[in-house]
Amino acid sequence: MIELNYHNVEAAVIGQNNGLNIQEEFNSYRDEIHRIIADLNSNKDKPGQNLQWMNLGYNEETIWYVKEFAAMVENRFDNVLILGVGGSALGGKALCEAILSPYWNFLTKEQRNNYPRIFFLDNIDPDQMNSLFNILDLKKTLVNVITKSGSTAEVMAQYMIIKDRMEKELGEDYRKNVIATTDRNIGILKQLSDQEGYKTFFIPDDVSGRFSVFSAVGLLPFALAGINIEEITQGIKDMDLALKNTDINFNIAAQNALIHFLMDVKKGKKISVMMPYSNRMRYVADWYCQLWAESLGKERDKNSNIVNVGQTPVKAIGVTDQHSQIQLYNEGPNDKIITFLRVREFDTELEIPNIFEYTGISYLGGKSINKLFNAEADSTMASLIDYERPNVTISIPKITPYYMGQLLYMFEVQTAIAGSLYNIDAFNQPGVEQSKNYTYALMGRIGYEDSANELKEKISDEVKL
Ligand code: PA5
Repeated sequence: MIELNYHNVEAAVIGQNNGLNIQEEFNSYRDEIHRIIADLNSNKDKPGQNLQWMNLGYNEETIWYVKEFAAMVENRFDNVLILGVGGSALGGKALCEAILSPYWNFLTKEQRNNYPRIFFLDNIDPDQMNSLFNILDLKKTLVNVITKSGSTAEVMAQYMIIKDRMEKELGEDYRKNVIATTDRNIGILKQLSDQEGYKTFFIPDDVSGRFSVFSAVGLLPFALAGINIEEITQGIKDMDLALKNTDINFNIAAQNALIHFLMDVKKGKKISVMMPYSNRMRYVADWYCQLWAESLGKERDKNSNIVNVGQTPVKAIGVTDQHSQIQLYNEGPNDKIITFLRVREFDTELEIPNIFEYTGISYLGGKSINKLFNAEADSTMASLIDYERPNVTISIPKITPYYMGQLLYMFEVQTAIAGSLYNIDAFNQPGVEQSKNYTYALMGRIGYEDSANELKEKISDEVKL
C-alpha cells in the first residue's frame, strides 16, 4: 500500500508554533472523523449526495464496455485526441503521463506496442490547436470529446473545429473517428451524439468533473493507450477497503485531511504544496491542485454562513523547483504545508559513470542518479525542518496502474473528509459556473442577455484587450 508519513508536522520536530501534537489532535477528532467516514460510506449510494465517485472502482459494466471498445479499435488509430477541460482532462492526463513510458508520443509504433499516441487538448489557445490539428493525420486519429455538462464552451468549440475539418477530409466516415463521453440525460453533446451516431460513454450521475477520473472519462483513454484498467480498479478497491476504517489511527486519508485542515485553521498554513519527486507524476500535482482548490475553496458553509475557506494548492516538482521555489518555502512566509510524493522503486537504475577526477564532482561517479534524486529529496526535507516548515511524505512503492489507482482514490477521499471538516459542500463549484456563464454571455449565447448587460458595466474599456 502507499504510505503517509507525518513525522515532520509534529510539534516535537518543528516546534510548537508551527507543529501539531498529532496524537492529541487525533484523539480529540476521533469521534468526528468516525462520523464523517461512516456518513460517507452510508450515503454513497444515495442520489443527490454526489458520492457516486466512491463506487466507480466497482463499476464492472463501464469497465467491460471500455475494454470492449478499446479491443475493437485496437491497431486502427495512430493517435487518440482527448478534448476536455478541468475534471474532464486532468485525471486522464495525470495517469497517462505517470503510467505510460515518458515521451510516449515520441516512441515508434513498435515501441508503443502498436498502441496510439495520446494527446490531451485542455486549452483553446488558437496557435496550439492549429499546430496540433495540422500535425495529426485525422484519418488515423480517434477523437474523444469529453464534457459532463455537454455544453462547456471551450470543449464544444474545439469539437466544432475538428468535426468540420474531419468531415471535410474524411466525409461521412468521420463519425467512426469520434466518440463522446458525457452525461446520459442532459447536455448538447448527448443530443449531437445521438444525431451523428457517435459511440457514447456515460458519466454516472452524482460524479462531479474532478472526481470523474475513474469513470469512462479516464478509463477509456487509459484502455485505448493499453493501460491495464483492472489493475487501476484493483488499487482503488484495496484503498477503498483500507479507508473504510473509521479509526483515524488507521486511515491515511483521514489523517492527511485532518493535518491539512488543522495546519490551515490553527497554524495559518494557507498554502498546500504538492511536490512529486518524480517527473512522471508532475500532472498528478496538477490534478491534485484542481481537486483541492475547486472542492474546498468555498464562500459559504453548509449553513449558508460566509466563510471563504480553502487552502491554495501549489505545484512544485522535485528537483526542478528546489532551484526556484525552495528559497521561498524555507525563508519566506511560514504559510505552507508541503506534501512530498516519493517513489520507492523507479523502473530504471541509472549509474553515473566514474569518468572525472575533479574532487568537486568525482564523488558522483559510481553512484546512481536514483541515489542522488533521493538525497535531494531528503536534503530538501531536512532544510524545511531546520526552518520549522511542516511537511508530510506520501510514498509509493512503484509507479504502476495499481498504485496510481490507490493514490488518486486516497486523495479523493482525503478531499471529501476535508470538505466535511470545513463543513462545506466539496462537490459543487459555483465560482466556476459563474465564469462559465459570463463566457456564454460574452459570446452571445441566448438566455444570457442579463449577464451580458452586467458584464458591460464590470469590464470597462480600459481593461479590455
Ligand atoms: O470539476 C469540475 O466540475 C469542473 O472542473 C469541470 O470538470 C470542468 O469545468 C469541465 O466541465 P464539463 O465536463 O462539464 O465540460
